[in-house]
Amino acid sequence: MLANEKAVNQGVAPVTYGQGDRPPRGDYSAARADYTCEQNWSAYTAAEHDLYRRLYERQAAQLNGLACDEFIEAVQHLGKPERIPRFDELSEALYRHTRWEVVAVPGLIPEEAFFGLLAQRRFPVTGWLRKPEEFDYIVEPDVFHDLFGHVPLLFNPVFADYMQAYGAGGLKASRLDACELLARLYWYTVEFGLIQTPRGVRAYGAGILSSAGELRHSVRSAEPSRVGFDLQRIMRTRYKIDSYQATYFVIESFQQLFEATAPDFTPIYRAVRDLPEIEAGVVLPDERRIAAAD
Ligand code: PHE
Ligand code: CO
Repeated sequence: MLANEKAVNQGVAPVTYGQGDRPPRGDYSAARADYTCEQNWSAYTAAEHDLYRRLYERQAAQLNGLACDEFIEAVQHLGKPERIPRFDELSEALYRHTRWEVVAVPGLIPEEAFFGLLAQRRFPVTGWLRKPEEFDYIVEPDVFHDLFGHVPLLFNPVFADYMQAYGAGGLKASRLDACELLARLYWYTVEFGLIQTPRGVRAYGAGILSSAGELRHSVRSAEPSRVGFDLQRIMRTRYKIDSYQATYFVIESFQQLFEATAPDFTPIYRAVRDLPEIEAGVVLPDERRIAAAD
């Protein structure tokens, strides 16, 4: 054994969700310095492929009327639902469309590593799949959330560019100590965004699209607040991590999202820091509520 072999193979420090003391679920010892690792596709069991298929089919069955057209058109790129996709094959197709790739990671990764990968048009996808008892609900992102929720829209050229810009913006936000404000933008767009269409609001956020119950709730329920996309408003708004969202922000188009987030955020972060936070669910007096789809 070489003297420095241990140092080389040490991997990276694990990352866990929230303040909890649960052990990390992925194998961080096998990750490279940029937190990427091998997918190790042949290690998935038949039971895991079958669980993936059941998750996929449950979501696919409710996309019509709830998911945006861009997502519905692109979901076929994930291939047959019978098997967890091979990231290398998926990357090849994705690269041909938008020059993005997917890379395997052991699970949650630090902000800077995450931003760095997005800025290079590499989307980190968790290797492991949830347990059967987590069929209806999982706190941390797993391979199903990351693939089914996030990857289809990376085939859309405008959304793909937005994700890269977000990564570059994240590296900048780290330097400006503004990651918390920028995280709210990710949360209310990439994870829980709605988009207006001639047939009513539809979902484009990955957290919604990979959720058994929130997909219908976010689009059809009269309960949550829905307001138009507004960058500063989003940066001021707190969010829920353990229940359906109380507020959803509705974009008009991916082009609107891209353009509204293109300006330098430095003065925007400064302005937002001086304004009070807004609780999830609150609709301000001057705001128009956007109706649920029927
Ligand atoms: N325009 C942002 C900035 O200057 C970067 C960014 C783009 C952030 C898109 C998020 C999404 O910080
Ligand atoms: Co996600």
